[in-house]
Amino acid sequence: MPVAADLRPPRRERTLNPLTDGIGRSAAAHEHRLLSAARPELPILNWLGMFAKPLLKVPRLGWITADPLTARAVLNDPDHFTLLSEGGVGHLWAQILGDWVYGLFDGPGHYDLRTKSRELFTEKTSFEFVERAWGSRIADARRAFDAGEPIDLADLSRILVGQMVVTLLGMDVADTDEAYLDIFRTGEELAATALGTTADTVLPPHKIAAARVIVEKLTGHIDGSFATAAGDTVIGRCRDHGLTLTETKGLSTLLMVAGTETAASAMARTAALLYDTGEQHRLIEHPELMDGAVREALRVTSPAPIIGRSVLADLDIGGHRLKAGERIVVLTWTANNLAGQFRVDREYIPQNRQLWFGAGRHLCLGGPLARAELTKIVQLLVGDGRPFRVVSRRYGRRVLIPAYESLVVQKA
Ligand code: HEM
Repeated sequence: MPVAADLRPPRRERTLNPLTDGIGRSAAAHEHRLLSAARPELPILNWLGMFAKPLLKVPRLGWITADPLTARAVLNDPDHFTLLSEGGVGHLWAQILGDWVYGLFDGPGHYDLRTKSRELFTEKTSFEFVERAWGSRIADARRAFDAGEPIDLADLSRILVGQMVVTLLGMDVADTDEAYLDIFRTGEELAATALGTTADTVLPPHKIAAARVIVEKLTGHIDGSFATAAGDTVIGRCRDHGLTLTETKGLSTLLMVAGTETAASAMARTAALLYDTGEQHRLIEHPELMDGAVREALRVTSPAPIIGRSVLADLDIGGHRLKAGERIVVLTWTANNLAGQFRVDREYIPQNRQLWFGAGRHLCLGGPLARAELTKIVQLLVGDGRPFRVVSRRYGRRVLIPAYESLVVQKA
């Protein structure tokens, strides 16, 4: 479809200032409000991040970095940084799941787990998982959307992600939107355990007890299904790749925590970005830019906006001496956004690589699945060659992963 020239964003490239570009510029302004609604400390961290190239020490928080090269150096250095000590996500989960986390989340046990689960989400298996889990649900949604009906994409994303979890983990739940939404909300509740732990990962006993009940609800069925699960399910694959029952339950919990809110957040925010920047028109004109559009959406949304590590042993990095026991927070959102605004035709940025998925040994296991999910959503939005508009939006408040609570879209 031809695009009116005045609808297109200016071609001139400029560097995004994540602080000032939050004011008055539609896409960036919405992203900023979304981040502050989720966690009021995020915009402050992002602002501080502009001075954290390569590193800055912040009282009570520790070191922060928004420099992609320093970030990758940290995430690629298991001799000096860990996520198991206080301050890291492994420490958080060990209190809930048990001490076996220390054997599986880092070090040789983790290496072994990652080696065994390497083939779990390839490009091919990921597209198959998306087709199997969402095929008919997405086809229905697309028919309604193309016919002009409004869709709350934030809601649909949560339902689809819940459905993905049910499919991946082979859970026995009713095939209804309500049931999938309930699974998503349960995973969200589990992830919320981590809220307020940016500065301190020690959990109070009541939070630990509540989180354990949720873990049992989500993974308890694996005790019964482990031996018999089909080879094309994640549980069957884990078993066939030599993972033990404990490893499989641990990995399933990780998938729940790491791959639900992040994926749903990316889906609705991608729709908002495509509309707010006008880039949907460029994509409609050039559907071959789909992969670039998905990569850009992941970069600019960076749904996991920070990654925490503890310093294991003293080291010099970025002109500073970091001491064992200190903490460091990698500001992925800032590091990725400093590279420029959302453009579907932007080339791959070598220094950032795919920092939105982390780096090193903990690099997101579900990256190919997240990309496949997002591709399907973008196809839903503009696959018929016609643009859409955002009718209304509401930001999620006090949530771990910044996300739209509601984003209603409709064909323009
Ligand atoms: C847009 C969506 C996603 C984003 C932005 C994202 C981001 C990340 C990041 C930044 C990490 C590294 C954390 C660290 O180093 O501490 C990570 C790890 C992980 N992600 Fe994702 N993720 C997404 C979707 C998914 C999906 C769909 C799954 C699977 C269903 C998944 C599974 C995992 C797992 C299992 C890990 C832990 C890997 C390890 O510790 O070895 N993620 N993710």
